[in-house]
Amino acid sequence: MMTIEDLKKIDITSIDADTAKSILAFLAIEIERHDKLYYAHSLPEISDADYDFLRQLNTKIEANFPDLKRPDSPSHKIGVTPQEGFSKYKHGAPMLSLDNAFNEKDVTDFLKKIYRYLNLNPDHPLEFVAEPKIDGVSANLLYENGQLKIGATRGDGSIGEDITQNLKTIREIPHVLKPPFPERLEIRGEVYMRHDEFDTFNQERASKGEIVFANPRNASSGALRQLDARITAQRPLHFYAYGMGLHDPSSFPTHWALLNQLENWGFKISRLRQICHNVQDLTTFHVSLGQKRTDLGFDIDGVVYKVNDIPLQDRLGIVSRSPRWAIAHKFAAEQAETTLEDIQIQVGRTGVLTPVAYLKPINVGGVMVSRATLHNEDEIARKDVRIGDRVIVQRAGDVIPQIVKAILSARPTNSVPYQFPEHCPICGSLAFREEGEVARKCSGGLVCAAQIVERLKHFVSKHGFDIEGFGSKYIESFWHEKLVQKPADIFKLKQIETDLKKREGWGAKSVDNLLQAIEAKRSISMPRFLYALGIPQIGQATALLLAKNYGNFQHFESEIIKAQDETNDAYQNLASIDGIGPSMAKDLIHFFQELHNQDVVAGLLNEITIEPYEHIIQESIFSGKTLVFTGTLTKMSRDEAKNNALKLGAKVAGSVSSKTDYVIIGADAGSKAAKAKELGIKCLNEDEFLLLAQHS
Ligand code: IVH
Repeated sequence: MMTIEDLKKIDITSIDADTAKSILAFLAIEIERHDKLYYAHSLPEISDADYDFLRQLNTKIEANFPDLKRPDSPSHKIGVTPQEGFSKYKHGAPMLSLDNAFNEKDVTDFLKKIYRYLNLNPDHPLEFVAEPKIDGVSANLLYENGQLKIGATRGDGSIGEDITQNLKTIREIPHVLKPPFPERLEIRGEVYMRHDEFDTFNQERASKGEIVFANPRNASSGALRQLDARITAQRPLHFYAYGMGLHDPSSFPTHWALLNQLENWGFKISRLRQICHNVQDLTTFHVSLGQKRTDLGFDIDGVVYKVNDIPLQDRLGIVSRSPRWAIAHKFAAEQAETTLEDIQIQVGRTGVLTPVAYLKPINVGGVMVSRATLHNEDEIARKDVRIGDRVIVQRAGDVIPQIVKAILSARPTNSVPYQFPEHCPICGSLAFREEGEVARKCSGGLVCAAQIVERLKHFVSKHGFDIEGFGSKYIESFWHEKLVQKPADIFKLKQIETDLKKREGWGAKSVDNLLQAIEAKRSISMPRFLYALGIPQIGQATALLLAKNYGNFQHFESEIIKAQDETNDAYQNLASIDGIGPSMAKDLIHFFQELHNQDVVAGLLNEITIEPYEHIIQESIFSGKTLVFTGTLTKMSRDEAKNNALKLGAKVAGSVSSKTDYVIIGADAGSKAAKAKELGIKCLNEDEFLLLAQHS
């Protein structure tokens, strides 16, 4: 069987007709297989660039051997290649995602957190709006002076793709708002397809020999990715508006009023919305919508609950990338039965061995599933799932499919329990489990190819350096060819541009594109850089927290190195950051202690610039000061107070020291208040803090 790498080595100008014929036969099958993986299963196996390469190769060979063009040639079918060519749009306000609730307890916890954060009595009345969560593709529409200027995809939440022309083809998206309207605002909503129209559309595709879509969401997404808006116009797309992005802060008192205004401007909003007051109202709505779900005529995957009062939404703010004031209550997971064909072990960047179930492909609620996670060795033992078992698979929303259980009555008589490997399947090093840990880890560290390659993949990934076109497959092949061994090598590829262009099967254009994408990332934000380093436990939220606290990378690095000595102030500063636990601090310190990591960072600093972190903070008397809160606050929770302080440019520490500038003392404050007085640090009560915060 040919591989993409084999094909890349072929010089098509010198092949004979027989070779051309066999390559074309191979490409017809292979491209169709990738189309199916992409369209029907949503599980592409190859990068967009490799897919493009296969299609281009087919076109070139057909151009040289027109008589060999096959009736089932991929060139007769419309390409599904993810399109290049859309320009980027930076959203006026980030497009957030929603946290999920899967049961009544999660909903109760959601409400409790809101009451706690706002420091409200449990009997304080609060209103929530419950509305359907439409299972489509989100879009952001920028209107200026009432005219639709830009329509964009969500992208990574900060930057999306400008698909204005495609969105304009949807009748339910007004090109002009009905007055009165503000000068500039963004409308958020969901593009979706109705079931009946989706079925007809798929039947038409099937009759033309085109690949059918697995579900309406994939079909909507495909329609919005067309470079030619005339194609989008032929697809039966709809739009529901559900909120706003960039807007005048004081425009609406409630979400309900906002929904009515959206309707007045000419948008379609869901009529299935309701004001609720408590968990019982919310869950009753959830049950009743769940019952209506199959009759709606389009897909919904849950109910969204939103705090109705917009000033309260603003107070609640955002945590990570989700609002504290909203949650998606998902419908029960979809399940299906299939065969577990194999269990394979994947080795991650931190060396964790994760078992992956390979399944006989099965449609679970509209999505083809062929892999599921088995989490870890204990999980396999607890469920006693064995290769060859019939198993129940489930998926809920975007969550990775899981194996619920094995069907014991259908178990083959010769089956044996799965033996979890005690050595890394990649480098053969011992795989060990630390006491109290569920994960078994490869001890190979930097001799383990899997760990090195996974770290490199993490480095260029979407939330890291986000180097366009530098997907997993390229990282793997560049690593094997010794072109990239450590992150800094990526930025040195430019020096071997001529060699890269001579690389078999690689056009000058692909090399130019890759090098341009790399050059574009020579300057990087501090949170992205910290995340990209792949330090254990340092995800996006913690990277942001560290950037906020240390401001620039050089200062951060020297402080973390000093923090190796636990008696040093630098350690106290790190440990006192709210949100950094002792185990995270240990991982951070350990990372910067390792010589290899120091080399990686130093190598990178020769190649790139890390932008100092500037967050939008109000200039205030608290800017740059260190605050400590102690005792019980009454007007707000401790969390809200801390977040307000951060917005005012302050640092919040957990303990009082000579470095503390202000201590905010609530009721029943104990030793911290006493220590503040002893050290002569300025003390404020809650009202004094709020007054200064509001007027600074
Ligand atoms: S509100 C700040 N409301 O669900 C809140 N989202 O995981 C942002 N969605 O990307 C979303 N129906 O595309 C909201 N009624 C609804 C929704 C809805 C569908 C999608 C949306 C978003 C995703 C959140």
